[in-house]
Amino acid sequence: MLLSDMRDNSSASGWSAESLLELRADTPGCEQVVHFNNAGCGLLAAPVLAAMVEHLQLEAGIGGYEAAAARAEQVRDFYTEIAALINARPENIAFAASATHAYATALSSIPFEAGDVIVTTRNDFISNQIAFLSLTKRFGVRVVHAPDLPEGGVDVEAMATLLRRHRPRLVAVTHIPTNSGLIQPVAEVGRHCRELDLLYLVDACQSVGQLPIDVAEIGCDLLTATCRKFLRGPRGSGFLYVSDRVLAAGYEPLFIDMHGSRWTSPGRYEPVATAARFEEWEFPYATVLGCAAATAYARRVGLEAIARRSSALAARLRERLTAILGVRVVDHGANLGALVTFQIRGWQPQPFKAAMDTRGINSALSFREFAQFDFGDKNVDWCLRLSPHYYNTDEEIAFVADTVAELVR
Ligand SMILES: Cc1ncc(COP(=O)(O)O)c(C=O)c1O
Repeated sequence: MLLSDMRDNSSASGWSAESLLELRADTPGCEQVVHFNNAGCGLLAAPVLAAMVEHLQLEAGIGGYEAAAARAEQVRDFYTEIAALINARPENIAFAASATHAYATALSSIPFEAGDVIVTTRNDFISNQIAFLSLTKRFGVRVVHAPDLPEGGVDVEAMATLLRRHRPRLVAVTHIPTNSGLIQPVAEVGRHCRELDLLYLVDACQSVGQLPIDVAEIGCDLLTATCRKFLRGPRGSGFLYVSDRVLAAGYEPLFIDMHGSRWTSPGRYEPVATAARFEEWEFPYATVLGCAAATAYARRVGLEAIARRSSALAARLRERLTAILGVRVVDHGANLGALVTFQIRGWQPQPFKAAMDTRGINSALSFREFAQFDFGDKNVDWCLRLSPHYYNTDEEIAFVADTVAELVR
């Protein structure tokens, strides 16, 4: 692949037609579907698929443990690739089966006590909100939601006031929610957390692979993500970033295992020094290798270029949808990314999605239950989510917008 030729500023999207064709040729799914569900799961690129299939064949040929030993060096690439992607060290990265698993493991390492406060936002992910409520039920933790700005997105100054008032045990912000195009100002929140020395957990599930992520710039202690969405890795994979600060302070997951610790005497164990403390012994090695390949691929394409192109495609789609009578685009916020959400007049959710499916367009539905605060504020019961990525084309944007217009008519 000639990824070095990718940037051609003469085209509207900033990429040459040839480089886009190359990327699409590398993505078998592009021939079969118009994939606007990258916020659900990105399409695998051929080298990712090849890395996984090769490893499964090796496992079948010589045995699972033996195949892992034979590919130990490539498995280490997972850590170096993810670390390079987010400006960390490999020792700060733990593999996880999902973003939710990474998040729950991170939460389990915090010794919450009754009366502790979690300050979060009105746009944090549904499962994170449920986890906070579960902590409330079990430990008596109090959850405080920072208010939003009138134009959408968390009000950082109001949040900073809450941080000074409550001195929370945890500050938690989802970078890009699942239910809207909003990009939250995670680095601005992080500056307040660093100033006040507060533990800061960022859910970067939708932003990893979509935007450049720099944990030093964000100032977070913990960051969670999946590999299957904008990073275009396989399903059943994710990671947890654990800062040196958190490792040195001795945080460890509640159910640490024989991989994350050493059983040093009958009555003692010692956590390992690295973020491996947050992993489990068993790994889906083909998946780990697929993640390493996907991350290397994304880094070769370039995260700055990916961010520019995916948000430009989404902005064009928003513009086209806004012009359709009977469609209401509901993305709010000063800074919007590649998730596009909208209401459709005169349709029920499942039939509308099915009509899109029939026309070869992959999309996703979001419901009030996914976003109690945000959809409540917007008075939305459900909406359709379209999430293009850099390998989508202007022609696909036009086709998708025309299809929505035809269905709404
Ligand atoms: C913002 C956000 N956080 C977390 C998750 C959960 O990710 P996973 O399904 O990998 O647990 C999602 C999934 O859609 C998400 O959008």
